Amino acid sequence: MSAKTVTSAVATAALPQIETPLLAVALAEGSDVPASLADLDKATGGLVSRAIASGDFKGKRDETSLLYPPAGKAQRILLVGVGKANEVSRNALRRAAAVAARRTRALGATRFHFAVAAEARNGVSARDVGQVAVEGAGQGAWAFTELKRTNDDPKPDVEAVAMVVPAAEAKEAEAGRRIGDAIAAGHRLARYLQVQPGNVCTPTYLADQARQLAQQHGFGITVLDRAAMKAEGMGALLAVAQGTQEEPRFIVLEYQGAGRAADAAPIALIGKGVTFDSGGISIKPAQSMEDMKYDMSGAAAVLGAFEVVGLLKPKVNVVGLIPATENLPSGTAVKPGDVVKSHLGKTIEIINTDAEGRLILCDALSYARRFKPAAVIDAATLTGAVVVALGHVAIGQMGNDETLLAEVREAGERAGERCWPLPLWDEYRELLKSDIADVKNSGGRGAGSIAGGWFLREFVDGFAWVHLDIAGTAYTENEGPHQPKGPTAVGVRLFSEFILKRAAA
Ligand code: BES
Ligand code: MN
Ligand code: ZN
Repeated sequence: MSAKTVTSAVATAALPQIETPLLAVALAEGSDVPASLADLDKATGGLVSRAIASGDFKGKRDETSLLYPPAGKAQRILLVGVGKANEVSRNALRRAAAVAARRTRALGATRFHFAVAAEARNGVSARDVGQVAVEGAGQGAWAFTELKRTNDDPKPDVEAVAMVVPAAEAKEAEAGRRIGDAIAAGHRLARYLQVQPGNVCTPTYLADQARQLAQQHGFGITVLDRAAMKAEGMGALLAVAQGTQEEPRFIVLEYQGAGRAADAAPIALIGKGVTFDSGGISIKPAQSMEDMKYDMSGAAAVLGAFEVVGLLKPKVNVVGLIPATENLPSGTAVKPGDVVKSHLGKTIEIINTDAEGRLILCDALSYARRFKPAAVIDAATLTGAVVVALGHVAIGQMGNDETLLAEVREAGERAGERCWPLPLWDEYRELLKSDIADVKNSGGRGAGSIAGGWFLREFVDGFAWVHLDIAGTAYTENEGPHQPKGPTAVGVRLFSEFILKRAAA
């Protein structure tokens, strides 16, 4: 399948004893060598203290210093800053591991060790260090070169990371490593699906990937084709799909980790799977339209989360729902002004064919009712407006249940995938009033993300629900110190944290 996995392990040797192409050490801001690195400093002839005392390395977030020890077992030492010690969190350490992995790759090395100076831990548990170090390593080492026939800057894949912890913490770190390993695998799968061009990653391709996952992990799977969608009455999804020759798919994955007892109501995850969004008849401008291959990022997050669930087998039931189609203009495409009947039965006036995500998701939301879900979370690259509101930093979050909203937000915080709430006040419902149908699919110019959220809410019938607008966070247009340009797999970690916490409760 995807880019190679980074094999992870826990190591307990003293830092000066570690034989490695690169020893990365996460350090907080400070003007002295932390006591925990005294031995390493001594063994390297004061290399670390010189980097710090000279002021060259200050320990700021993302800052690095690459040092070449004149003697000793590590070929290179990479100091990685994590910012102020009292502000260090899981997220800061994950990020430091990602920075280290990215640098390892850039140097052409294939493995590295990662340690966190005791003074830079800020109370993060050994278990959490184990988990986020592996997550970060996978994230930072990732690259997609499969489609390059000529590569002017070939680098070998990073194959292995070892986390260095004190022996007393090895067991805890190992428990975390196992979780981080699974989450990294889900992350990798999601990114791989996201980055695929639209002519490769079609709805049929997504369904095949889901089938493979189901086979690997023993999930139940149902895939509806156009005819089955018609029989189901999914008029909104079919309206989007009617403009393309590419066959749409509605994918249902079922993981039963808590058995079939009535109290084991599942978590339902819904992911927007538009494998290319041209806008349809309301066509988009050409500028950056190629990025609309990423309009299936919600679907990728759901499949990534199922990979994690399949590997860790938490005691909880999870359903995954993915409506998948292209959105193209053609002689058969749905037109502005058309009215269609949704799966729930409500009629929708399609004002703008580019507001297609909500059309495919609304049919998935009403399909979810049959599972009597305990909670439903959808992830969708739904609106450009969420980028205006929150930039590329936070997920726009809406929903109908304050408790679930808080639970999802906390999961996002742990995951380093932060959510910020937008209000679904009644006043905004006005935006969607249609003259001739129950609802229209696009409001005016203002409050675009909330209008999208409110539209979805019209189809939420009898369950707690949270909508995550990931249009600003699903991919990046520039590389960062901790990740390459392109897909981010956003949602995989949040979904995983949410599920694991529920399973442990
Ligand atoms: N897929 C887009 C949203 C999007 C924009 C994702 C930028 C990623 C980056 C979505 O289908 C869309 O086109 N939304 C419209 C809605 C409008 C017509 C009401 C938008 O945001 O302009
Ligand atoms: Mn669109
Ligand atoms: Zn879209």
